Amino acid sequence: MIRETIITSCSPQGVVHIAPMGVHVLDDELLIMPFRPSTTLDNVLASRAAVINYTDDVRIFAGCLSGRRDWPLIQAERVPGQRLAETLAHAELELLRWEEDELRPKLYCRVVHEANHAPFRGFNRAQYAVLEAAILVSRLHMLPWDKIESELAYLRIGLDKTAGAKELEAWGWLMDMIEDFKHANPDKAVRT
Ligand SMILES: Cc1cc2nc3c(=O)[nH]c(=O)nc-3n(C[C@H](O)[C@H](O)[C@H](O)COP(=O)(O)O)c2cc1C
Repeated sequence: MIRETIITSCSPQGVVHIAPMGVHVLDDELLIMPFRPSTTLDNVLASRAAVINYTDDVRIFAGCLSGRRDWPLIQAERVPGQRLAETLAHAELELLRWEEDELRPKLYCRVVHEANHAPFRGFNRAQYAVLEAAILVSRLHMLPWDKIESELAYLRIGLDKTAGAKELEAWGWLMDMIEDFKHANPDKAVRT
């Protein structure tokens, strides 16, 4: 199983980096697989630590992709680094070992501390829609334009029916990125 989370990691100079990342849940370990080049990868290798933030605030996913990385943080308890101040829960990780790979190294971690901060209040289709749209946006250069448009049209149904203010704001940031991409790549944004 893969959980979509926000990873916070810390550089040797103490600079905290925030990035959306899928975390693979294994039997006793968690596996993070950053694509190179990655600040998260560099930080986790240097500090041997990471923090997973389990949040339903999808603005943070869309915000990180669109350059809005200034989310409130507070100190982690057991590892060097910080966690999101507002998150449903978080887990502090120690890096156990890693497997080198040119494209996507594997970081095997174990939880050394975790805590709940707010209740999970149920699934929301608009949050799912924003997550899926964020993944599309992170792959605009790789995907055919027809696929992007048809997937967005489907995701918009759940968004329109169920979104709150945070989901609409996050969706708007992603749609702005798509418009920017279209203007910068007029040839790609043509129907095939
Ligand atoms: C829901 C979601 C999941 C993602 N999962 C991964 C992942 O597992 N690995 C990865 O390298 N990038 C993933 N990304 C893209 C990264 O967040 C993005 O490329 C980021 O800049 C990572 O690079 P960094 O460590 O240099 O910040 C994901 C993006 C989203 C929206």
